[in-house]
Amino acid sequence: MRNLTLDNITAAAVDSFAGLPDARQRELVQTLVRHLHAYAREVKLSHPEWRAAMAFLHRVGDISNAERSEFSLLSDVTGLSSLVDLLGSHPQATPGSVLGPFHTVGSPWKDNPAHLIGDNAGERVLLRGRVTGTDGQPLKDAVLDFWQNAANGLYWQLDAAQPRDNLRCQMRVDLQGGYEIATIRPVPYQIPTDGPAWVDLVEPAGRGSWRPAHFHVIVSAPGHRTLVTELFDAEDPYLERDAVFGVREALIGRYAEEHDPAAAQRLGLPGPGVPVMRMDFRLAPA
Ligand code: BEZ
Ligand code: FE
Repeated sequence: MRNLTLDNITAAAVDSFAGLPDARQRELVQTLVRHLHAYAREVKLSHPEWRAAMAFLHRVGDISNAERSEFSLLSDVTGLSSLVDLLGSHPQATPGSVLGPFHTVGSPWKDNPAHLIGDNAGERVLLRGRVTGTDGQPLKDAVLDFWQNAANGLYWQLDAAQPRDNLRCQMRVDLQGGYEIATIRPVPYQIPTDGPAWVDLVEPAGRGSWRPAHFHVIVSAPGHRTLVTELFDAEDPYLERDAVFGVREALIGRYAEEHDPAAAQRLGLPGPGVPVMRMDFRLAPA
């Protein structure tokens, strides 16, 4: 590799990874290098700009730790996470949406219907629906992994006043694929604003830090692709400007008052009406 020039340096760098033994990894790395070079050529990247980019990535690394990944946030605010979600979504299935940083593996199992309200303040609501395949047939062995924020906007991990695992659970659907969760209406909240993703990129762009209120859910069933998604509230003021591009039309639900005295009693509401969001999940075949 002597006499590298503008004309041959990209091919030299791409070819240098030809020995990666795994074909997919080789494709990912070689294509990335090709695109990085194309980017630098297109914008005529200068030395000071390249140094600033390296310093920025350093700051992203510096603030990251086991509980906080600023790299994930960077992926979220640039729309990369949502692009990957959309690329992985099957056209006939429920679309995927951002996982976010607050999922925990091993949430407590609850019976279906699940009751998560406990001591939480907030508007009491029911989330109800069915899990099916893309053919509409119920998936009776599906499992939901569910989490959301509390009435103060915080997930339990960031709020010492909340009990561990507040407002989250794993649950099985019933024989018809049905599920029901008694919970509180989530509220909008802000992405972290103390790191370089916000300070150096998002705020200077004049963008907002808010995410519209949402439930998170991971739906899995044997023989089907696991769905990582979110459910949004049709009345939320931030639906049009989610800081992380997570909103999809099919994921927006509306609370409708349903006559259900028994559910009202379960929720501790005077009844007979209960605000219910109905949301079905369609899983793609594996
Ligand atoms: C969330 O949904 O909890 C979230 C997603 C992306 C960045 C920050 C928070
Ligand atoms: Fe969230």
